[in-house]
Amino acid sequence: MYKIFDTVDEVSRYTAQRLLNKVQAKPSAVLGLATGSTMKPVYAQLIEFLQQAPADLSQLTTFNLDEYMGLSGEHAQSYSYYMCEHLFNKLSIPGHRVNLPDGMAEDVECACQTYSEAIQAMGGLDLQLLGIGSNGHIGFNEPLTSFSSRTHVVKLSEQTRIDNGRFFADQNEVPTHAITMGIQDILEAKEIILVATGSNKAHIMAELFHSAIDEALPASALWQHRNVTIVLDAEAAVLLRKSAWAEDSRVGLQGPIRLSA
Ligand code: F6R
Repeated sequence: MYKIFDTVDEVSRYTAQRLLNKVQAKPSAVLGLATGSTMKPVYAQLIEFLQQAPADLSQLTTFNLDEYMGLSGEHAQSYSYYMCEHLFNKLSIPGHRVNLPDGMAEDVECACQTYSEAIQAMGGLDLQLLGIGSNGHIGFNEPLTSFSSRTHVVKLSEQTRIDNGRFFADQNEVPTHAITMGIQDILEAKEIILVATGSNKAHIMAELFHSAIDEALPASALWQHRNVTIVLDAEAAVLLRKSAWAEDSRVGLQGPIRLSA
């Protein structure tokens, strides 16, 4: 299902409301979380909703998608730091229920295996939140990652390192490797919400819309899933032709709720 809104604010309100609905319906929910600039307004909105109507978060468990290798939680560009700054410091989720891949793990292979097993031991993810890279990555699963992958170490593509260089003082500081939940881990989530906003996502969203299921475009793995919502603002949706919606016969997808002119 696609949801297309005019503004980032509307996208963030819709997505935060979906997260809140999940937590209210199932206080022991297991959420898969993402970082990146797309999620900042989503988390800000979720915090605002929870300030207006507090919910019991004591049974909630979270698993983040990914983390840079070689960055500790104290590093301002680590995803651990990001999550504390944008979400965890402002919510009362018990620390032992918050999970991120450990970018400093000594035995990284073991840490990866343990991460996927921990998700499975919790009964899997109830809801996975995803952004998308300009090359179609989900998590840090770069093009040609196996769709049957579990949590693993990935060498970041040059495109991703360039895209994410905007967060670092110097392009050379962008880590070369990361740990990411695998595509199979993501696909096993009961529900998935992919959010894309801004004109820099317009090309990849158009490509994804017309793509077959193909490991060259990691996000196309989502076409195999029965409960995916793709949430776009008008800028990210600008290259999707209205007529294209009618052509979409993929299982589980419906036409747009609203397509801005
Ligand atoms: C981050 C993640 C990535 C980002 C993607 C988009 O945890 O998994 O896939 O969602 O790179 O990043 P932004 O939102 O910064 O454009």
